[in-house]
Amino acid sequence: MMLLPFLRRNLRLTGTKYGCGGGGCGACTVMVSRYDRGTRRIRHYPANACLTPLCSLHGAAVTTVEGVGSTRTQLHPVQERIAKSHGTQCGFCTPGMVMSLYTLLRNHPQPTEEQLLEALAGNLCRCTGYRPILDAGRTFCKTSGCCQSKENGVCCLVQGVNRLPEPEEGGQTSPKLFPEEEFLPLDPTQELIFPPELMILAAKQPRSPQVFTGDRMTWISPLTLKDLLEAKSKFPQAPLVMGNTSVGPEMKFKGVFHPVIISPDGIEELSIIKHSCDGLTLGAGLSLAQVQDVLADVVQRLPEEKTQTFRAVLKQLRMLAGSQIRNMASLGGHILSRHPDSDLNPLLAAGSCTLCVQSQEGARQIPLDERFLGKSLGMDLRPQEVLLSVTVPYSRKWEFVSAFRQAQRKENARAIVNAGMRVFFRDGDGIITELSILYGGVGPATLCAREACRKLVGRSWSEETLDEACRLVLGEVTLPGSAPGGRVEFRRTLLVSFLFRFYLQVSQSLSHMDPGRYPSLEGKYESALEDLHPRCGHGWGAFRYQRVDPMQLPQDPIGRPIMHLSGVKHATGEAIYCDDMPAVDQELFLTFVTSSRAHAAIVSMDLSEALSLPGVVDIVTAKHLGDVNSSTETLLATDKVLCVGHLVCAVIADSETRAKQAAEKVRIVYQDLEPLVLTIQEAVQLKSFLEAERKLECGDVEEAFRTVDRVLEGEVRVGGQEHFYMETQSMLAVPKGEDQEMDIYVSTQFPKYIQDMVASTLKLPANKVMCHVRRVGGAFGGKVVTTSIMAAITAFAAHRQGRAVRCVLERGEDMLITGGRHPYLGKYKVGFMSNGRITALDLEHYSNGGHSLDESLFAIEMGLLKTENAYKFPSLRCRGRACRTNLPSNTALRGFGFPQAGFITESCIVEVAAECGLSPEEVREVNMYQGTEQTPYGQEINTEGLARCWQECKAKASFALRRAAVDKFNSGSPWKKKGLAMVPLKFPVGVGNVALGQASALVHVYLDGSVLVTHGGVEMGQGVHTKMIQVVSRELKMPMENVHLRGTSTETIPNTNASGGSVVADLNGLAVKDACQTLLKRLEPIISKNPQGTWKDWAQAAFDRSISLSAAGYFRGYESDMDWEKGKGHPFEYCVYGAACSEVEIDCLTGSHKAASCWGHTPLFWPRGWTGLDLLGNCGRDKQGSHDSAVPLRSSSHTNCCQNPFTQRKARTSGQTSSWTLATLSTQHSTAARSKAPSSRAWGCTPRRS
Ligand SMILES: Cc1cc2nc3c(=O)[nH]c(=O)nc-3n(C[C@H](O)[C@H](O)[C@H](O)COP(=O)(O)OP(=O)(O)OC[C@H]3O[C@@H](n4cnc5c(N)ncnc54)[C@H](O)[C@@H]3O)c2cc1C
Ligand code: FES
Ligand code: FES
Repeated sequence: MMLLPFLRRNLRLTGTKYGCGGGGCGACTVMVSRYDRGTRRIRHYPANACLTPLCSLHGAAVTTVEGVGSTRTQLHPVQERIAKSHGTQCGFCTPGMVMSLYTLLRNHPQPTEEQLLEALAGNLCRCTGYRPILDAGRTFCKTSGCCQSKENGVCCLVQGVNRLPEPEEGGQTSPKLFPEEEFLPLDPTQELIFPPELMILAAKQPRSPQVFTGDRMTWISPLTLKDLLEAKSKFPQAPLVMGNTSVGPEMKFKGVFHPVIISPDGIEELSIIKHSCDGLTLGAGLSLAQVQDVLADVVQRLPEEKTQTFRAVLKQLRMLAGSQIRNMASLGGHILSRHPDSDLNPLLAAGSCTLCVQSQEGARQIPLDERFLGKSLGMDLRPQEVLLSVTVPYSRKWEFVSAFRQAQRKENARAIVNAGMRVFFRDGDGIITELSILYGGVGPATLCAREACRKLVGRSWSEETLDEACRLVLGEVTLPGSAPGGRVEFRRTLLVSFLFRFYLQVSQSLSHMDPGRYPSLEGKYESALEDLHPRCGHGWGAFRYQRVDPMQLPQDPIGRPIMHLSGVKHATGEAIYCDDMPAVDQELFLTFVTSSRAHAAIVSMDLSEALSLPGVVDIVTAKHLGDVNSSTETLLATDKVLCVGHLVCAVIADSETRAKQAAEKVRIVYQDLEPLVLTIQEAVQLKSFLEAERKLECGDVEEAFRTVDRVLEGEVRVGGQEHFYMETQSMLAVPKGEDQEMDIYVSTQFPKYIQDMVASTLKLPANKVMCHVRRVGGAFGGKVVTTSIMAAITAFAAHRQGRAVRCVLERGEDMLITGGRHPYLGKYKVGFMSNGRITALDLEHYSNGGHSLDESLFAIEMGLLKTENAYKFPSLRCRGRACRTNLPSNTALRGFGFPQAGFITESCIVEVAAECGLSPEEVREVNMYQGTEQTPYGQEINTEGLARCWQECKAKASFALRRAAVDKFNSGSPWKKKGLAMVPLKFPVGVGNVALGQASALVHVYLDGSVLVTHGGVEMGQGVHTKMIQVVSRELKMPMENVHLRGTSTETIPNTNASGGSVVADLNGLAVKDACQTLLKRLEPIISKNPQGTWKDWAQAAFDRSISLSAAGYFRGYESDMDWEKGKGHPFEYCVYGAACSEVEIDCLTGSHKAASCWGHTPLFWPRGWTGLDLLGNCGRDKQGSHDSAVPLRSSSHTNCCQNPFTQRKARTSGQTSSWTLATLSTQHSTAARSKAPSSRAWGCTPRRS
């Protein structure tokens, strides 16, 4: 058993979260503390509980987020600061972040920023974009986030291009969210101590192996080398589990089973660190983090000449996985895992390391070379042998060793290709006498270019040799076009790029050592050697928050950057998510059996073996569901499956483990069917579409094409994207045992839809089903349709059994079953004049919708409605179709069709610019909307804000200066190039339908004056509950602390709409406001009679006079409509305008890229007469001042692409990394709608700024 389920299920410590189960996300981070008897020191390190076997923790202390601090006892400064820095949104990643930071501070109470970045590299967050989390960490650091080089007295964080000071904001913005002086101080003396009883236990350690025996497995922990060798001799096939970061994922994801596991704990021979004349010998049991510490110390003390290999290993270790994995994984485990993309093995092999292995028969040395790495016969460990240590030789004079790696992002991502290279020259004449070149990531094992090296020995170090080396290496390290892992061209390029860099590095070193013989490197080559490092921290920027009107009353919270009201609970682990709910009596667990075929008939299904297993209670198939199986979407496959991951049946057992074991025993025989449609191209060819075409047209497109100067045609492909909400799909169905009532707790964005699906599946009226959502650990559009299908099946199983049933998907299952962002194919034909003015545009959008409709049509429609982005194209035709393919159904994902559609249009603009010899920004300007305009569907919009955003962004980015600086840089830099782009944005807000915009709220005032509010929006990280409490606070003029919110329920708010589309706070805010105003109107006579009274007084007086203290609020939705037959309508209420400018630097040799500079600014403008409430409500602005939808403007030097085993398996394109980003935003009601803008109401009748 792993530590994570033990904590969550057995100890009910649910603060530690499950995010991926494979060590990749850090949500399960805990601090492990061990006492070393030898050194009498305690080592604290972060560990992934999901990969830590419980048995391995004998004698160790584990600190979870609950032990760090809580609202019931005392908060820890880490918890306080992460919450106050707005470092939590959905909060699901937060306990893991807290634990990584906490462990860092236990070891380094005043860390450097580098240590901070290193400590957090193993933690993913899908909401915040990392900056605020790092901001919290920075408050503990010795230095601030700037580079400390305050040239001209100007901090790098506030300077613009060419170090010009940033333009003044006129005091409307503030760079600070919190007063640091109010923070709880960090006092290391107050931290939990290591339990003394564990020290006593360690001193009394029995000298015989610890053996733990379970139902299926035996765990042996030998304490001496003799015991270890004996155990290995007795169980030669048993793995030696050290960090379990290789064995664990294999057992979990590949179904490998080991009946016996040997886990040597604290054996001295495995932890040695010994210098000898040959080199440095490192025990195989040292963790990679310990190796890092040892080497960091050694390179300080020994001359550079001797430490070439050590330095190269250190360089690789800095980027290898995250801090948790490096602290768990052992050197021996790493080497012996022989992963084809291992970062260390190519280097250790190139560095001529040797392995000392031992069995009961004795010890021997084996070379760590490609034969060992390729498991060649006779060159590998024998089954009874264990690896004791690794000797890394010192390098010699004229010997050079280098390491290279290229990954999708720097930290916590497996390398795409890596390499270790070594060359040794003959003293005196510079002839190559030894050369080793090894690559990882290019085959099933680490590959050595042995032949190439052999042929190059005897040559001198010259450009001719380099040419020859490239030719030979490419000839020897072949990568066929169909090589697993794809990206073959890129990987081939990296083979040569690394070689080129090695050549330059060695040439530079040679010229330093003997300038007389070796000329110094030409200036143009020097930039090829520089790694791309962020200038200030890790892409941190100076962010500014808009200040409220100075006239606003201090008590009025609207518009202020209020901390997420669950922020502290996120940070202490007290916030309850669906799977954190305690088990219900006799609860069962449901797991799905999914299709392994993309398109096949189900010939037979044998459930007998699965049903016969202990603990298995039921298996639900389509037959059980009968006629309810095919309402809107089929729940379970009937006679055929339409994609890999299609739900076929559901196994219900008394525990998760038993349900999963039984699911593996369901035998299904398939017969493949034709056609198999996977891509958009195949679907278009076969006319495989989900729905009829949608089309928008304005102007006379054909005629316009006849009058243009030039016409261009092209295609744009946009990849898909995994959802990767941190909380996987989770649900708990609880039959109430009376009147067939069913309560269902689900991680969903759409409780009403779940209620409907469950009710129709159980053939019950909706009033018997209650769906409740406390909070959701990220959703992004992915927790609607598929969630409802799974919830309906779970409720069906619960109904059949009369027992509660829980279903929580593992990350792999989640990614297999659910779809993500639609991949798009865009075709365009554009007609334009020589000045870049586009007068005719004909677009076709095709999305890959997967096997069922889901939200594909809606996404296509939104894409079409937003396709022109910020431009007025007089003649535009745009057609869109969702393709039916044999993939899981794709669905809504951040931006809902707009990112893809916008990207197609912007790509077209770039092509036009290139054709006209203009910059894309010039073409954008020429085509931009101006003043009051009509959209292609005939809606009138006022675009004044757009021009303002564009001009402000241009000025604040010093665009012209920046462009000149970038051009100058590029002309003098052959290997590194900079890119600069500025893009405007028009994001129309609304759902295109009045009914879909209606919202309700319920506000109760209790006799003690406290208020309970509930509304239809779901809290999924956007802070909607916080915003609603802000609204109540303003309306009822009471402190926010007086108002409470207990989640979203179909029982309190019926017929809710889905939460999404950037309008949740907007619509529900107006409903909450309505409820508050109803209450105020009712209580007006009481309040006016006693204006100095309190809410307690007023509530009691109202009660005494039989005046209801409960009010429902309602907002019927913005007037909107869209007639797709005519292609005309008024689907949106208002538009958000923005502009962003990004400067990126790229290494042309490797594809690495970085933020050239980090600076951001997001002022918001709103129309006359609008209040802060209107802004908050209508703009859907989140607590950090950015728009809810965020996609087009979100910037981070981290991509949101999550590197873990699953994303690699179903590789889908993630968003781009944007870097230097300046964004301005503006909201504006459409002209028609502006007159209907709600009237302002101010606290204490203070006039609002207009
Ligand atoms: C999320 C994640 C990210 C990762 N990122 C990277 C990365 O960026 N770069 C990279 O190179 N690697 C990466 N890895 C791989 C990681 O480096 C290896 O899994 C790790 O080093 C294995 O060490 P371990 O101690 O956990 O091995 P274990 O899983 O404990 O053991 C692995 C194997 O080694 C054998 N073994 C261990 N010690 C001995 C011994 N003394 N004698 C004989 N046999 C022994 C075991 O029998 C077993 O077969 C990543 C892994 C994870 C889970
Ligand atoms: S759940 Fe353990 S790292 Fe993701
Ligand atoms: S706040 Fe980090 S995943 Fe949501």
